[in-house]
Amino acid sequence: MVTEVSASILSADPLDFGSEMKKVEKSGAEMLHFDVMDGIFVNNITYGIPLLKAMRRKADIILDVHLMITDPLKYVKEFAENGADIITFHLESESDTEETVNAIRMTGARAGIAIKPGTSAEAVFPYVKDVDMVLVMTVEPGFGGQKFMDMSQKIAAIRKYADEHRSDRPLDIQVDGGIDDKTAVIVKNAGANILVSGSYLFNAENMAEAVGKLKEDI
Ligand code: DX5
Ligand code: ZN
Repeated sequence: MVTEVSASILSADPLDFGSEMKKVEKSGAEMLHFDVMDGIFVNNITYGIPLLKAMRRKADIILDVHLMITDPLKYVKEFAENGADIITFHLESESDTEETVNAIRMTGARAGIAIKPGTSAEAVFPYVKDVDMVLVMTVEPGFGGQKFMDMSQKIAAIRKYADEHRSDRPLDIQVDGGIDDKTAVIVKNAGANILVSGSYLFNAENMAEAVGKLKEDI
């Protein structure tokens, strides 16, 4: 599968989100990854609807929203109405999984389910047919710049299950956390096709070059 890149705005300069977004667009990344944290589901608070709405007005890129919040069901419609193209929520959240997937689908946005490092591949199997994407976290959610955790077996198990159980189109498997030019090779080999990256891309001297490295054939 072709590798796509979703650049995490969490590592951008918050005083400069507008120009950071334009930099991402010019880098060749397909998506802008927008991490929403509520301080309860994870131990950090980021941003939400008003920023997404403002970015949507100027964005020329897919907005990939990753909800790290306790009750995503309550908010998915609002995120969709305010510009999210993809909405991913956590299987470990308190919302009913099936209901939340359906609520996202109703909005027309692509639906994704995220799993933390401690959650098994099997836990997501019942939903593989109904979602567009599974996000396998390669760090504990909450902060950028953490060390990569190897989830190769989990990624491979989900890829295998999806290939066997989906007839329409291949499942997107996204990875998030500690992705750089070296760890990208590991996750692509395992079967991931959308790579989220924050600190590696924003710390790079040349973001376009760094995006190119993440996409290199393996
Ligand atoms: C962490 C977030 C990530 C984060 C990744 O909970 O979900 O999207 O921005 O940052 P890096 O690439 O620096 O690990
Ligand atoms: Zn994320």
